[in-house]
Amino acid sequence: MNGNQLGTQKMNMTQHSNTIQRSRSVEQLVSGQATSDGAGVKLTRLLTQNLQRRLDPYLMLDAFGSDNPDDYIAGFPDHPHRGFETITYMIAGRMLHRDSAGHEGLLQNGGVQWMTAGKGVIHSEIPQQEHGVMEGFQLWLNLHSSEKMNPPWYHDFQNEQLPKLLSDQGVSVTVIAGVCQGVSGAVCRDITQPLYLDLHLPQGSSFAQPLPAEHNAFVCVYRGTVTIAGQSVAAKHMAILSNDPLADGVIIEASGDAKALLIAGKPLHEPIVQYGPFVMNTEQEIHQAIADYRAGILGESA
Ligand code: CO
Repeated sequence: MNGNQLGTQKMNMTQHSNTIQRSRSVEQLVSGQATSDGAGVKLTRLLTQNLQRRLDPYLMLDAFGSDNPDDYIAGFPDHPHRGFETITYMIAGRMLHRDSAGHEGLLQNGGVQWMTAGKGVIHSEIPQQEHGVMEGFQLWLNLHSSEKMNPPWYHDFQNEQLPKLLSDQGVSVTVIAGVCQGVSGAVCRDITQPLYLDLHLPQGSSFAQPLPAEHNAFVCVYRGTVTIAGQSVAAKHMAILSNDPLADGVIIEASGDAKALLIAGKPLHEPIVQYGPFVMNTEQEIHQAIADYRAGILGESA
């Protein structure tokens, strides 16, 4: 093999990794439901309970954002979780987290807190600021039945600890989970294979990401407007991407500056039984969670 052939081969490989032959399309646009949670934090629930099967393994996505402290200051006092993971991404503001496993952390601008509730955590999430803007997202990721009763796990990633890359189109990508253009994210999970990217797209750029066709995926736009397979998706909207078996990924285009989250994962195809902050596979397991919580043993580390 001569040098020319080698060069051509390398170029093809590079091209292949950055090129999507056919993008998924937008199956449904979701504008979310205004609601409040915790001690009266106002938020928009983008991934609601009726979409849990469609977006398996994801259970919930909340967007919170306000410059009025009355909308967020009371935060989320002590409450339990069992059976899944919560991923909190702060765009702006500071949130203090404390839990029954003895973890404590201050989540700051651009930071991510990844918490695996497993068999049980009781925690509080309280804003640490009395002025200014608080903005962020909380995503719930389900656990496989074999992992729901694992010990809890928790990690805070400050913004500078999160893996980042700049694409050849100038798109700046924060890789919270999964793999993007050879960069591994802060967290990887074998069973649900979550992909969680924060994309900052400059005007006129586009971004392509390979996605296995069976993985469920959605894009949540939080600044500007993006276009996916000819469909425009404006800020404060979530686009559910079709599981087109012929599509090898998604192409996201921005005619103006835009910011969006791209989230995907491998479905578990297991029964989902949710009762508030407990997500298990059977009614019996939910009754057990409630009983353990009432008995004061849900957050015990033994
Ligand atoms: Co919580």
